[in-house]
Amino acid sequence: MGDIVAQRLSRRSVLAGLAAAAGTAITSPWPRALAHGSSLTFQEIPQGGGPDHAVAPGYRADVLLRWGDPVLPGAPAFDPRAMSVDGQRMQFGYNADYVAYLPLPRWSTSPEHGLLFVNHEYTNRELMWPGLQAWDATTEAQARIEMAAHGASIVEVRKEAGRWRAVPDGILNRRLTALDTLVHVSGPAAGHARMRTKADPTGRTVVGTLNNCAGGTTPWGTVLTCEENFDLYFAGDPARTSEPDRFRRYGIGEKLLYSWHLNDSRFDIEAEPNEPNRFGWVVEYDPYFPDVPPVKRTALGRFKHEGATTVISADGRLAVYSGDDDEFDYLYRFVSDRPVDPENRLANHDLLDRGTLSVARFNADGTMDWLPLVYGQNGLDRSNGFARQADVLIETRRAADVLGATPMDRPEDVETNPRTGRVYVMLTINRERSEARIDAANPRADNRFGHILELAPPGDGPVRDHSADQYRWDVFILAGDPSEAGHGARYHPDVSKDGWLTNPDNCAFDLRGRLWISTDQDTDQYDRGVSDGIYACDTTGPGRALTRFFYRGPIGAECPGLCFTPDGRTLFCAVQHPAEGSTLAAPATRWPDFAEGMPPRPSVVAITKEDGGEIGS
Ligand code: FEO
Ligand code: CA
Ligand code: CA
Repeated sequence: MGDIVAQRLSRRSVLAGLAAAAGTAITSPWPRALAHGSSLTFQEIPQGGGPDHAVAPGYRADVLLRWGDPVLPGAPAFDPRAMSVDGQRMQFGYNADYVAYLPLPRWSTSPEHGLLFVNHEYTNRELMWPGLQAWDATTEAQARIEMAAHGASIVEVRKEAGRWRAVPDGILNRRLTALDTLVHVSGPAAGHARMRTKADPTGRTVVGTLNNCAGGTTPWGTVLTCEENFDLYFAGDPARTSEPDRFRRYGIGEKLLYSWHLNDSRFDIEAEPNEPNRFGWVVEYDPYFPDVPPVKRTALGRFKHEGATTVISADGRLAVYSGDDDEFDYLYRFVSDRPVDPENRLANHDLLDRGTLSVARFNADGTMDWLPLVYGQNGLDRSNGFARQADVLIETRRAADVLGATPMDRPEDVETNPRTGRVYVMLTINRERSEARIDAANPRADNRFGHILELAPPGDGPVRDHSADQYRWDVFILAGDPSEAGHGARYHPDVSKDGWLTNPDNCAFDLRGRLWISTDQDTDQYDRGVSDGIYACDTTGPGRALTRFFYRGPIGAECPGLCFTPDGRTLFCAVQHPAEGSTLAAPATRWPDFAEGMPPRPSVVAITKEDGGEIGS
């Protein structure tokens, strides 16, 4: 491993101040912690954990939206003893994940009035109802509440006298759910025989969207919300279907988190084998035209999409990056056939239906290739069971296997630095990787801590060729504790005892091109006594890869959905699954209400600077 890392890190002095250390273990940097060159001025908070959240001195972290808060007119106040399906479908959903801020009025850059699009990935029944464990079956009524708590909430928000508030009767407020939102299907797989079910013989309309994890926004102001672990919802034995291996490649039949199939046969693969083919897509939704149905864009492939982030390439076409969040799965890129039309919003409405999806292969010499997933090319034909492009897209993972893509350590968020045009890939964990399977881009066996890769498309400066067949790449950070030689961690040598991180998951760039990273240690945080949170670092200059600890969530939570307002003065983030790992009988925290009888509530937090200045300035 050391040789591979040394080879990658010493190729050029990518980590400022680190080149001399490349190939050698970095000793504890703590005595040098104050002698840093970071452009970030906040004072770090200590690592640790507890029932409440915490932010750097001089900042505020205000809870803006909680599970159960009213979203639509007529929504009841949240009452954990009297939850109902009709109430939940009008209230803020559970486990907020992706957060997007869309200014109001439309096309403005208003930093103090807008819509928040927040998706709701999954539910924790053990923290919603007393007496339930995480894997227990729910009643039909509870299952329908779970379905209504999935999806997304769109809520108008305003900043007044420096504080954000939700507008519960905003005319654009909406809920999308897994219960009853009709979602259209477009692109090459729409209407294909394998997309048809008894309830939808057209294969073009799906009820609901599942397990919406991260996402992205488009240059024309729509949101991309991404279906991730859809396998957890489908019951049945793949061996009793005609396509057992194709279910297994997505993990269907291995873990079942929900009991919805007991009341709805479309979640039983033996009764409705095509229903899982209708999930695992990127969903486009336009919060400014909220009654136009969301659309599953099949040209972007079917896998466990962490997110889908966009960047306009040098030739004007749109590139969309997306990680497939599973051990040994892949990193993908879609490039539209047509350029984005900046003048005519409607001209972009089907831009994501035509283009080329590719998968990444990383080479040890610092180059990487994008391999096109195109029917008829490189074995993606009948010899491997693909009869048309729709098959390639429905079975994206298997098509990528055929091409020889590089199996990664759980690719999560991907973001492009608006100042440099370089692309950053969060790889969160892979404890299954053996010494025999390490490679240059995934250089540690039993990768407990995750890492971050930096991709350089051809070009120089913020506008690069994101449609090129080949990029260069490098390791940006190997996460873990740099004072523990066994971790094999690598950062800027001045990272402090509070500034190192594990399990990078989601990220965002601020206006100055600094990288903000949220972590997801899962329930390991109980073992370490260290909560997940938000870290930040420069990606260029003397503070490159010098991560600093900014915000800590309550125990059990992760903090995805990082989103800056256009003025850089507010950072929204989600606080997902507070108290996960405990149950309602003795929750690890009752954040954010801290009231007896109130459960912990996943929320969205607005972080501002007390002097009203730019975050991180
Ligand atoms: Fe839902 Fe990959 O995190
Ligand atoms: Ca995530
Ligand atoms: Ca995660």
